[in-house]
Amino acid sequence: MNGAEVRVGIIGGGLMGRELAAALGRWPALIDHPVCPRLTAVCDIRPEALDWFRQIETVTQLTTDYHELLASDEIDVVYVAVRHDLHESIYADVIRAGKDLLAEKPFGIDGAAAESILDAAAAHPEVFVRCSSEMPYFPGAQLAYQTIASGALGRIVSVRSAFLHSSDLDVHKPINWKRQVATCGAAGVMNDLGLHAWHVPLRLGWVPSTVYADLENIVTERPGPDGTPVACDTWDNAVLHCRVDSAGSSFPMTVETKRIAPGEKNTWLLEVVGMDGGVRFSTKNPKRVELFAKIAIPGGGTEQSWQQIDAGSQSAWPTVTGGIFEFGFSDAILQMWACFLAERAGALGDRFATANPHEAAMTHRLAAAAAEAHVEGRAVAVASPAAANS
Ligand SMILES: NC(=O)c1ccc[n+]([C@@H]2O[C@H](COP(=O)([O-])OP(=O)(O)OC[C@H]3O[C@@H](n4cnc5c(N)ncnc54)[C@H](O)[C@@H]3O)[C@@H](O)[C@H]2O)c1
Repeated sequence: MNGAEVRVGIIGGGLMGRELAAALGRWPALIDHPVCPRLTAVCDIRPEALDWFRQIETVTQLTTDYHELLASDEIDVVYVAVRHDLHESIYADVIRAGKDLLAEKPFGIDGAAAESILDAAAAHPEVFVRCSSEMPYFPGAQLAYQTIASGALGRIVSVRSAFLHSSDLDVHKPINWKRQVATCGAAGVMNDLGLHAWHVPLRLGWVPSTVYADLENIVTERPGPDGTPVACDTWDNAVLHCRVDSAGSSFPMTVETKRIAPGEKNTWLLEVVGMDGGVRFSTKNPKRVELFAKIAIPGGGTEQSWQQIDAGSQSAWPTVTGGIFEFGFSDAILQMWACFLAERAGALGDRFATANPHEAAMTHRLAAAAAEAHVEGRAVAVASPAAANS
C-alpha cells in the first residue's frame, strides 16, 4: 500500500469496534486510495474484549482507560463505538485531545448531548469529525441517490425511507443497554436506527418542516441478568410522517425505524417517486435497483413500468472486486471508511461523504419533534438549528 499512513485507535471493542478492525484488514481492496490506515490502539473497559484484538499485529496499545489512548502520540484518528450515554463525554474528550473522530450514531444520547459535542467541535475547528452511517454506500443506494440528486425524477410525489429489523421479536431475549432509556436514550429506536434512515434524505436537503409520529413500545419487559423481568422502556418502532418543502415543491415523506418488523432481518430501504420517474432500493435484495419510467411499447403507445437492474460491486471508492460480484455490510463499512479518510485527506472529490456532525445532530431534532407529535397527536414543527442553539 502506498498511501500516507494514518494511525487509528478504537474506543469500544465490541460489535462495531471489531467490524472496523476487520474492515481495515481489507484496505488493499481499495484502488489508489490516498491513505493507508494502521490500527495501533484499542481501548475497552472489559479486558476480555481486548483479547480479540491481540491477533492484529499493528496494535501496540491495549488499554482499559481511554485517557491513556488519547495521551498517545501514536494515534491520528479515533473511532468511538460505545453506549449512547457515553458519547457526549468521550467524543468531547477525543476532540479536546486533538484527535480526528469518526463518532458512532446517534452522536449523543439526546439533542442536548449532540449540541454539546457540536460545541466541542466548533471550539476545535482543526479536528475533523464525522459520524458513522454506512448503508448509503451499498451500490444500489448510491445509484438511487445519484438518480434522485440528478433531478431526473421531476417533481417529487412521495418518499419512503426505512430501517427495519426484528432482533426484538423474541420476547425472551435478555435486556441490554440498547433497550433502556438510561443508556440508549428516550428516543429509543430513533437513536439506534434514525441516522441510517435520515442520512440520504438530509443529504438531499430534505429537512421536514413538520413531523407527525406514531411511536410504539411493544415489549415492555425483558429478562434481566438473573432472569427477573426488568423494564424495557425504549420505543421499539417509530413511524414519522413528514412534510418536506424543498426546491419550490412540497411532498410527504415517511421515515420508519423499527426493531420489531416481522420478516425483516436488517432492511434499509429508500423509495422516491416523482412525476417523471422513480427509484427504489432495499438491502433485502441487495443487488436490485428498480427504476420507474414511462416506456414505449413495441407496436405503439406508452405504459408505466418499474424496471429492474442489478447493481454490481462498485460503490463510492473503486475496488479490485470484480464488477459483477455481490456487495455486503462489511463492504459498506470499508467504503464509509474509505470516504471518511479520503475526505480527511482532502481527496474525496465528488464522492458521497460520511454523515457530518450537523446531519447527525439534526436526527435528534427530528426525534424530539416526533416525541412531541406522538404525545400531542398532531404534526409538530421541526426546530431549526438556530432555534435549537438559542
Ligand atoms: N453503524 C452501525 O451500523 C452500527 C451498528 C451497531 C451499533 N452501532 C453504534 O455503535 C455504538 C456501539 O454499539 P455496539 O453494538 O458496538 O455496542 P457493544 O455493546 O457491542 O460494544 C460497546 C463496547 O464498549 C465498551 N465500553 C463501555 N464503556 C467503555 C469505556 N468507558 N471505554 C471503553 N470501552 C467501553 C463495552 O465494554 C463494549 O465492549 C453505539 O453508538 C451504536 O448505536 C452502529
